[in-house]
Amino acid sequence: MTTAEKLFRYSIFVLMQVLAAQSHAEDKPYQIIDGKVDQNTFQGWQAYQDVNCGLCHGDSGQAAPPVNLVKSLQGMSKQQFVEIVIRGKGLMPPFISQPKVTENIDKIYSYLKARSDGALGDGKPQQQ
Ligand code: HEC
Repeated sequence: MTTAEKLFRYSIFVLMQVLAAQSHAEDKPYQIIDGKVDQNTFQGWQAYQDVNCGLCHGDSGQAAPPVNLVKSLQGMSKQQFVEIVIRGKGLMPPFISQPKVTENIDKIYSYLKARSDGALGDGKPQQQ
């Protein structure tokens, strides 16, 4: 193997590691230690309460109907989630003009993802 080939192989290897780390982060955007959530996830819960997603989806995302978010996030990518929340869907209003939602969308996703993975129970989470 020439040095160029070795370098090429090595850079592919590094790239794969980076991609694997990223997709892992995407899978699990929250961190829970001893039942306590990281700050982003906690703020996601807070934003969810402040803008009252719970009016239709239950105070912890568990209400059905119209949609049980805890269940529906299991089959949804983050991108799909963001698009629905920003643009609205059916009877759900779009939240594009609410900064509390647009600025905290990652955090709201982290919170609901933790709920839908079964990593976090209902009610107010405890912060690390
Ligand atoms: C006024 C009631 C209402 C509020 C408030 C509301 N939603 Fe919804 N939401 C709905 C309805 C109704 C649907 C079902 C839309 C459809 O499929 O026709 C829905 C669907 C969704 C979906 C898609 C679920 C799926 O399986 O397709 C997501 C994600 C979602 N809501 C997140 C949120 C978030 C996050 C908030 C707060 C920022 C929020 N919703 C606030 C009524 C609401």
